[in-house]
Amino acid sequence: MVEIPLRKLGQLAPEPATLDHYERASLDELRAWQLSQLRWSLRHAYDNVPHYRKKFDAAGVHPDDLTSLDDLAKFPFTTKADLRDNYPYGMFAVPEHEVARVHASSGTTGKPTVVGYTKGDIEIWADVVARSIRAAGGRPGMKLHNAYGYGLFTGGLGAHYGAEKLGCMVIPVSGGMTERQVQLITDFKPDIIMVTPSYMLAILDEFRRQGLDPRKSSLKVGIFGAEPWTNAMREEIEETFDLHAVDIYGLSEVIGPGVASECVETKDGLHVWEDHFYPEIIDPDSGKVLPDGEQGELVFTSLTKQAMPVVRYRTRDLTRLLPGTARSMRRMEKVTGRTDDMIILRGVNLFPSQIEEKLLTIAALSMHYQLVLTRTGRMDELEVHVEARPDAAASELREAAANRLEQAIKHSIGITTRVIIRDPDSIERSAGKAKRIVDRRPLA
Ligand code: DLL
Repeated sequence: MVEIPLRKLGQLAPEPATLDHYERASLDELRAWQLSQLRWSLRHAYDNVPHYRKKFDAAGVHPDDLTSLDDLAKFPFTTKADLRDNYPYGMFAVPEHEVARVHASSGTTGKPTVVGYTKGDIEIWADVVARSIRAAGGRPGMKLHNAYGYGLFTGGLGAHYGAEKLGCMVIPVSGGMTERQVQLITDFKPDIIMVTPSYMLAILDEFRRQGLDPRKSSLKVGIFGAEPWTNAMREEIEETFDLHAVDIYGLSEVIGPGVASECVETKDGLHVWEDHFYPEIIDPDSGKVLPDGEQGELVFTSLTKQAMPVVRYRTRDLTRLLPGTARSMRRMEKVTGRTDDMIILRGVNLFPSQIEEKLLTIAALSMHYQLVLTRTGRMDELEVHVEARPDAAASELREAAANRLEQAIKHSIGITTRVIIRDPDSIERSAGKAKRIVDRRPLA
């Protein structure tokens, strides 16, 4: 039998003529554009959003003080708390009647944070998502199954408008109803799927449950984001579906999906679409700007947004900036995790992604996992709950897998954990972002 070449996709890199201007521009030209846009954006925020005016004045800075890109470091940060304090429309820089759409992120506590878009912002957003899909291997005329949730979450509509703009046929499925997802993939034969990586694993389970071979599906490209995922998970998904799995990053406050995206020909981190979003990396404790290459918290300033400009927005995502490869714009490394998701266990810092990387090295374990924090006496303890693969039912196999994982974690991260192997399908699935951390510690 002739082996179908892995990943059913012809030419990977797009024709240079199809790229946007700044995907091809020199760095000098890009930097000059960024400087003039930064000046516009700071001025726009200062003139039209009382919150920014107050903050700039209090810090003793004025938009005219920006004469080089480095001067941005003089300006104050913006945080999620600033957006909450100005709920719902206080951060808008245009009159409400010019706002064509709002989105909101629910957050775990309190009020959602609201973000607004003019018609022009929505066009820009569609452009950067179209660019991201093309970078992932998508082309006009392809069919795209969109399983990001539609609604206040930016994933569904963000992906939808971008896919239409590129010229794809969009199948607007939204999240959930996993059985139907599989049926639609089988019947409608999409080339591309956009979905959270953890929900893609749930779709995979459903393929198997229905006795279907995922490698025979029509999917050539998966564009996964909205939550951290590792290269280990990429390998797993690519291998089982025979597709290209690429990473897309974004956050509502900055625009939604399409702030940065991976190129399928390199898969070496996400190119930040720097002609619209200016990135910085800071030390999360001191707030000091770090040089490219150093790990820290990612911060964005919008360069073109009208309805809701953001100035030095602290994402809480940890990564580093690297030089461009497939495009001249800089890359950000895959996000390690959010500062809020960092577990500090007996003085050691740990992210779920570090555990995820270990799972694939053990054949009996699946990628469905949760980290459960408990406390006995005054000691915090970490349980790693992970599902066995369906073919690993024997108890000796499971015990050996638990031991191996405990040792691997001890060896690489330096902490003692208790690994609990669970039956297939026993860990909560989410149709969107997976919940990786469950805190069962009593409230202090
Ligand atoms: O998750 C936007 C999005 C939708 C991105 C679909 C990609 C695909 P929020 O709900 O505001 O927006 O959540 C933003 O999700 O600060 C990160 O912590 C996390 N995140 C998003 N993309 C990635 C990614 C959307 N590729 C927050 N890798 C961000 C790791 C990601 N984390």
